[in-house]
Amino acid sequence: MALVTTKEMFQKAYAGGYAIGAFNVNNMEIVQGIMEAAGEEKAPVILQVSAGARKYAKHAYLVNLVKAALEYSDIPVALHLDHGADFEICKACIDGGFTSVMIDGSHHSFDENIALTKKVVEYAHAHGVVVEGELGRLAGIEDDVKVSSVDASYTRPDEVEEFVNRTGVDSLAIAIGTSHGAYKFKPGQKPQLRFDILEEVEKRLPNFPIVLHGASSVSQEFVKIINENGGKLDDAIGIPEDMLRQAAKLAVCKINIDSDLRLAFTAGIRKYMNENPGHFDPRQYLTPARDNIKTLVRHKIVNVLGCAGAAEK
Ligand code: G3H
Ligand code: 13P
Ligand code: ZN
Repeated sequence: MALVTTKEMFQKAYAGGYAIGAFNVNNMEIVQGIMEAAGEEKAPVILQVSAGARKYAKHAYLVNLVKAALEYSDIPVALHLDHGADFEICKACIDGGFTSVMIDGSHHSFDENIALTKKVVEYAHAHGVVVEGELGRLAGIEDDVKVSSVDASYTRPDEVEEFVNRTGVDSLAIAIGTSHGAYKFKPGQKPQLRFDILEEVEKRLPNFPIVLHGASSVSQEFVKIINENGGKLDDAIGIPEDMLRQAAKLAVCKINIDSDLRLAFTAGIRKYMNENPGHFDPRQYLTPARDNIKTLVRHKIVNVLGCAGAAEK
């Protein structure tokens, strides 16, 4: 099956009360692990590429890895630019085979965010590509840019209608207390999300797909494996999965997961290398890393996102 946009995926997800997983990809083993899990669970999936991933692996490698994966699968797959910072990177991805882009104007003023997002939407729609915008600002680390919790801000529900109407975006990322990275809450702090904001946004934008960034749960199982095998991740805390399940039943149609993949991949490598100090064939230590990606993605699809079997409906 060829790459698709997220339009139909989101319509069905909204109506069905589930969400689609948007998983960050950086290399072949991550693409393979995600695609095997999604294929076996018959789940539509979004593979997303950040500017950092594009710089690391190069655009054509990533696009062609995803195209190669399509040869072994029959599920709907969208290729998405994660956190596009400006018009130029969005244009390069639209021209270069992506079916969806995010323009992240959340650090600009409201009017500047609208102007930039509208410009990307006009170009994208003219080329059959869909666009995700963002209102509100998440804490955490993206591409070496650290947003402190002081600079983070929740989405203001009274702005969302105007933003969507003036820009023409196809989906909207909002800030309700999630954050990027593996340290989302302080030790002892009770994890909380502002479901009141999500519900208010949903009222103002009926039937409109909402996106949740910074939604890794930070599996303590993988953290333990990393720490037992020479790593040091103190106090890594993620979003409780029951909160993600709740969000998926509401207007959230896309849930972004990257840190969980990184932890799964790293746990696989660290454990293998610790147990087999004499081995140096990358295929040996990348196999458990890829297996962990598959296990994690299957778990998310079946137990958190609720999108298993959705590719057949
Ligand atoms: O939102 C950020 C994603 O986790 C991508 O991270 O910019 O380090 O590739 P990155
Ligand atoms: P996590 O760091 O919680 O995995 O968030 C990823 C993300 O939002 C990618 O855009
Ligand atoms: Zn993000």
